[in-house]
Amino acid sequence: MKNHLLALKDFSKQQLQSLIVRAMRLKNESREGKRHQQLAGRTICLLFEKPSTRTRVSFEAAMYGLGGQVIFMSTRETQLGRGEPLKDTARVLARYVDGIVVRTFGQEVVEELARYADVPVINALTDLYHPCQILSDIMTVIEQKGAPENLKIVWLGDGNNMANSWIEAASVLGFPLTLACPEGYGPDTAVLEAARARAGQPITLLRDPGEAVRDADVINVDVWASMGQEDEQEERLRIFRPYQLNSELLARAAPDAVVLHCLPAHRGEEITEEVLEGSRCVAFDQAENKMHIHKAILDSLLGGAA
Ligand code: CP
Ligand code: NVA
Repeated sequence: MKNHLLALKDFSKQQLQSLIVRAMRLKNESREGKRHQQLAGRTICLLFEKPSTRTRVSFEAAMYGLGGQVIFMSTRETQLGRGEPLKDTARVLARYVDGIVVRTFGQEVVEELARYADVPVINALTDLYHPCQILSDIMTVIEQKGAPENLKIVWLGDGNNMANSWIEAASVLGFPLTLACPEGYGPDTAVLEAARARAGQPITLLRDPGEAVRDADVINVDVWASMGQEDEQEERLRIFRPYQLNSELLARAAPDAVVLHCLPAHRGEEITEEVLEGSRCVAFDQAENKMHIHKAILDSLLGGAA
């Protein structure tokens, strides 16, 4: 059965909530020393066209942790790099493995793979979305602060793949979201409009970072130049400077606000060393939760026990 995870908008509130609940349960069970084997005999292929530390290792650790096996392929080492069509690659890989986890540039790449692969395709980051990351981020928010609908959650900086997936999560799960992005660097317009049409809670786009973080419970930051935007690094450094999360900006948030960063972090750019290493930053809990969320996703899509 086809059952892909390409974008959060494709899921219901109940489905996203149940993935997070499943991840929390798997996390507790592993802390108690329980060994999982529900994906024994199953194999996934990771097909990555961009670098990764956390997503690659946490997907691999998740699959092994459920008793399964992993084959990692960097796209440039495959025939895709020499022009073999995606639709052929998808149909071939689906004959060998039980799921394909893809990190690439265009969202249309994961969509085409999903169209042709007869096994689940999971989006491990595209230029448009980073859906699995946002699920682990919301899990971290719930652990730290409780239900997101009762919180002021803020996205600060670039309206990038992470921002787009936060917007979709807010619209599906039904929590308010405030974004502050420089002019010309807002989230994808179509994603924002569709999410606003779906949402029961406001999704607010501001310019002023100080206004956005006022009384915030959760502040999210990410790099100013994403993978593939290296040529724009210098210009972005100049434009995004007022959006740096430093102690002064953080002081405007609620006194017990938490700071999220999906990592990798560029200290001295989007976040200062002091804030990243400070007691309010939960970036390493977020990083751990990626593995638990990936276990829940694999368990759910590959048909493990509920
Ligand atoms: N947060 C995240 O996706 O990190 P990697 O690029 O290291 O996978
Ligand atoms: N927005 C960043 C996220 C990295 C995990 C990027 O796409 O590079």
